[in-house]
Amino acid sequence: MPRIRVNLGGRSYPVVIGSDMSGRLPLELERVANGGRVFVIYDAQIYALYARHFGRLFKSFKNRAEFVVPSGEKSKSITQLQGIYDFLLAEKITRSDLVVACGGGVISDLVGYAAATTLRGIRWAVISTTLLGMVDAAIGGKTGINHRQGKNLLGAFWQPCLVWCDADYLLTLPKRQIISGSGELLKYAGLIGGSMISLFSRFIEKGDLYDFSLIQRMMIPSVRYKANLVAMDETDMGRRMLLNFGHTFGHAIEHGSGMRYYHGEALAIGIKAACRLGNIAGISGTGAIDSYYSAVDTLLADLPRFRVNLPKALQALSVDKKRSQMRQKFILLQGLGKPIIVQNLGLNLIRRSLERTLCDLGLVGEPND
Ligand SMILES: NC(=O)c1ccc[n+]([C@@H]2O[C@H](COP(=O)([O-])OP(=O)(O)OC[C@H]3O[C@@H](n4cnc5c(N)ncnc54)[C@H](O)[C@@H]3O)[C@@H](O)[C@H]2O)c1
Repeated sequence: MPRIRVNLGGRSYPVVIGSDMSGRLPLELERVANGGRVFVIYDAQIYALYARHFGRLFKSFKNRAEFVVPSGEKSKSITQLQGIYDFLLAEKITRSDLVVACGGGVISDLVGYAAATTLRGIRWAVISTTLLGMVDAAIGGKTGINHRQGKNLLGAFWQPCLVWCDADYLLTLPKRQIISGSGELLKYAGLIGGSMISLFSRFIEKGDLYDFSLIQRMMIPSVRYKANLVAMDETDMGRRMLLNFGHTFGHAIEHGSGMRYYHGEALAIGIKAACRLGNIAGISGTGAIDSYYSAVDTLLADLPRFRVNLPKALQALSVDKKRSQMRQKFILLQGLGKPIIVQNLGLNLIRRSLERTLCDLGLVGEPND
């Protein structure tokens, strides 16, 4: 049962990875609850599938209170946040208590933000139930909700005190969601290089998306990589930005598809566009990196095909660019496991990489150039 520590001094916490480990969860939660009351907030689908399982696990927390949030990205909203505030305050939560988020990235983002802002900050833990959550969203304390002007525009950095990643929960996760989580694994494969690429290629080519032993072997270096960057640069002003590899394009694709592509799916396409940009900007060559390009293509072959509204996607790119200086920076691969932050690339180059990638995948019409 590997425990990877996110080193943040007095706010350090473990990310626990494994399978068949639910028997240990009550003790872990007791440790972090430290005598306080426990407030569990579930994703509705998780509640429907696992209410009895968690009822048994949590039976020693006699005073616990529970709340269920509808599943899906739409729940990262002010309305759902308000619902959680109403619940926590009606239950008279105090700052000695513990909030537990139980679900995927939507729930950890939303509940983490509720924990960050209720009574000026309450400790929280995550029981992550999606692959994307386990390798990325649950770790690192980026919490928040969406605004009609864009994704994740309201939020806070608020670190959890425990992240629990039991691969057994993935058994019920639909195949398309596993593929979406694989988008994040693909990102780490490019950033880390080495054996991570061969593990990833084996995973995707083998076609058994529920091979938990292989998934865990990829989760460990991925989580370690993220934990190190978070420890080094908690608020994403420097090295942590490397984790944005593929994300600027990915967000534009998510937006251009009218949110029909899931986060990790759009990210996988975004990674393809970033590889193309690296090539045409003369930063990434060919050779050893070809094994990565072919892993990217194998994953893309498994994605559903949705039309992407190109003007909308391009507009999202330029809004990103205007909104934050940091977004003007692209993460590109110089080689396997050799990401660099590149600034001041021509807008034309960036647009062309996105357009050509979408066109090759048949998601938009032929470009005019
Ligand atoms: N905070 C961060 O650092 C960070 C990083 C990456 C992504 N994110 C955010 O994460 C969100 C995406 O997270 P996600 O992909 O986990 O999506 P999600 O939380 O919406 O979960 C996907 C779907 O799977 C269902 N589900 C969850 N666990 C299940 C299980 N074990 N069995 C069956 N069904 C299950 C959910 O009900 C939902 O319908 C996005 O909002 C994205 O912005 C945040």
